[in-house]
Amino acid sequence: MLEEILDDQYPIQGTMKNGAPYTIRLLRSYDASLLYHFFSEIPRGDRLFFRDDVQDRGVVENWCANINLDVAVPLIVEVGGDIVGEASLHREPRGWKSHIGRVRLVIHPNYRRQGLSLVLLREIIKIALHAGSLERLMAECMETQIGAIRMFESAGFVPQATLEGHVRDIEGRSHNLTILTYDLRDQEYFAAD
Ligand SMILES: CC(C)(COP(=O)(O)OP(=O)(O)OC[C@H]1O[C@@H](n2cnc3c(N)ncnc32)[C@H](O)[C@@H]1OP(=O)(O)O)[C@@H](O)C(=O)NCCC(=O)NCCS
Repeated sequence: MLEEILDDQYPIQGTMKNGAPYTIRLLRSYDASLLYHFFSEIPRGDRLFFRDDVQDRGVVENWCANINLDVAVPLIVEVGGDIVGEASLHREPRGWKSHIGRVRLVIHPNYRRQGLSLVLLREIIKIALHAGSLERLMAECMETQIGAIRMFESAGFVPQATLEGHVRDIEGRSHNLTILTYDLRDQEYFAAD
């Protein structure tokens, strides 16, 4: 059901603030090389906070080979045949957090401040509404990721808590974690888009 809606919805085209065209579409199993190349160009400072080692080709190939839209919906932004941004909506099929969708997103450094994150978040919100059971979105940022926190706030997310020393980066240093949420229950109008 969700898969059919997503197949109908994407790809979509748009233009960045600088006027350059982009395409948003679902990540597919054949995108592993493109995605690996994209992650290889993300600065180490940003990758410090990633959950997985995206420099490991096997990790990226494994993601692409095991796309399950009921668990995670991965969207990519493409420019001239390259991936320049990636956002994903993660769901837990059952349990006490099954109404919460977790959002992750990263944009290639050369394509930042072009409004791509806000466009991707709008798409993620629409998908979350179509997914049916979700009531709330959640994003997790290190407290030091000021740009990311500002971006989520621009999209309507609200900081709810900062947990001291709650997470470790890929080098093992601990950081404060800021949790932001977005209430989907008042957003039904997006679903009609
Ligand atoms: C955070 C990130 C996703 C923002 O992507 P982006 O496409 O550049 O964001 P947008 O262009 O849509 O920005 C929208 C608004 O968010 C705010 N914003 C974005 N980046 C910002 C920054 N570095 N500093 C301050 N505000 C920022 C601004 O209000 C911006 O609007 P403006 O450009 O008109 O001022 C990108 O910098 C990135 O990939 N960072 C590394 C990964 C990461 O931190 N991911 C988030 C955790 S899941």
